[in-house]
Amino acid sequence: MERTLVLIKPDAVKKNIIGKIISIYEEHNLVVEKLKMISPTRKLLREHYEEHEGKSFFEELLSSLDSKEIIVMIIRGERAISVVRSLNGATDPVKAKEGTVRNLYGSSIRHNAVHGSSDTEAAEREIKIWFAG
Ligand code: RTP
Ligand code: MG
Repeated sequence: MERTLVLIKPDAVKKNIIGKIISIYEEHNLVVEKLKMISPTRKLLREHYEEHEGKSFFEELLSSLDSKEIIVMIIRGERAISVVRSLNGATDPVKAKEGTVRNLYGSSIRHNAVHGSSDTEAAEREIKIWFAG
């Protein structure tokens, strides 16, 4: 069993489709282990996305999430990390395969509906950041 950290980003929360997104995971044998809706601070987002610090899109990426309502989840299941990432689809919704979350619900490369941890190390780190204590 593996655990991964999933965010449903503000663009998807605003579209009123959090249930549809969660259903896609549930229909693929994944289980929601923890879930909360919060408005994250910039400090928390900076920590979450630290690998992208210095990139051209970094500050705008933080602004797109800063203080806006998001869903934070721990998703559990067999190969949960890679299964979630393949269900999410490519970063750019235009390039995401048909039926993936980003293909269905993403609006742009930045407003792309969801985040999923990239590997085990990232998943452990991100779960600690978002579900501290
Ligand atoms: P994520 O971490 O959110 O699951 O997405 P990812 O691995 O597919 O993409 P990553 O390269 O880690 O990028 C993180 C998030 O940054 C935004 N982004 N904007 N060129 C751009 O404007 C650009 N590139 C990436 C997206 O919101 C992406 O999910
Ligand atoms: Mg990533």
